[in-house]
Amino acid sequence: MKQALEQIKTAAVEALEKCDNLKALEELKVKYLGKKGELTAILKQMGKLSAEERPVIGQLANEVRSTIEEEVKTRTAALKEKELEEQLAAEKIDVTMPGKKFQVGKKHPLTLVMDEIKEIFLGMGFDVVDGPEVELDYYNFEALNIPKNHPARDTQDTFYINDNVVMRTQTSPVQVRTMEKRKPPIRIISPGRVYRSDALDATHSPVFHQIEGLVVDKGITMSDLKGTLEMFVKSLYGEDSVVRFRPHHFPFTEPSAEMDVMCFNCHGEGCRICKGEGWIEILGAGMVHPKVLQNCGIDPEEYSGFAFGMGLERVVMRRFAIDDIRMFFENDQRFLDQF
Ligand code: DAH
Repeated sequence: MKQALEQIKTAAVEALEKCDNLKALEELKVKYLGKKGELTAILKQMGKLSAEERPVIGQLANEVRSTIEEEVKTRTAALKEKELEEQLAAEKIDVTMPGKKFQVGKKHPLTLVMDEIKEIFLGMGFDVVDGPEVELDYYNFEALNIPKNHPARDTQDTFYINDNVVMRTQTSPVQVRTMEKRKPPIRIISPGRVYRSDALDATHSPVFHQIEGLVVDKGITMSDLKGTLEMFVKSLYGEDSVVRFRPHHFPFTEPSAEMDVMCFNCHGEGCRICKGEGWIEILGAGMVHPKVLQNCGIDPEEYSGFAFGMGLERVVMRRFAIDDIRMFFENDQRFLDQF
């Protein structure tokens, strides 16, 4: 029995010294010191010993136990230390390593100019309001004095969700929605996406942006329209900009006009940029048609107003000399990085 105890001690110490991880160490501890372990198995046989032998073997057994326990303790501490060191080494940060490049986003050129235009109108006391892109036929056409079968619908062919719901072809429906909700004085712009079933080419896109404007109050006249829009153009293109108004027709304004700005490149002479015209068309405008006011529950005898609408893409294309509208929607980083 004495021999057996010595063997256990030697085997245990050897195994513990070789052991290189905490999990295996735990297993060894159970193997030698556990309830079903080797040492316990020997002690169970103590009953068979004579009265003289028993204390001797008992003492030896205790010694073996404490030697193994000591060794377990030492190895546990050593292995814990080792694992910590390994973890620290693995987590070490090499401060000389090149960093990961962080890509900072930029504003899209359309957003850049849109923000600028918003700022100009905010400065003149306008509010910015939103409207739905999926719009009722009523707001996009009917309420704007464009009944079914009106020829104006031809030039604004769109995507129909069903007979009564369309992708809006213009931001003008926001005028109606605003007048239904608010009482004059009203002074708003409404920027946003619009849709037309045009084939995609260098100058046409089935989705583009417009900015709508609407002013309704007592005593609003055509000169308010002209003054406001001229001030807008001077803020956007510079104090020396020259504008002109030409008569035009829109079903929802009367009278209607288009506003041109003198070509900044040739100053009216005619060049490639203005296609020889000397002037560049910027927007449509007019005095809100009395029928439209009526449709929105505003008395045209008491109130009058003006409205305007402009396409954003063309303004931005001219600003940055972009010659293809498709560039805006392709999300090519090489293009977008230039702004
Ligand atoms: N909605 C018109 C279009 O898409 C632009 C327009 C013209 C808007 C005159 C207006 C306006 O508010 O008064 O062609």
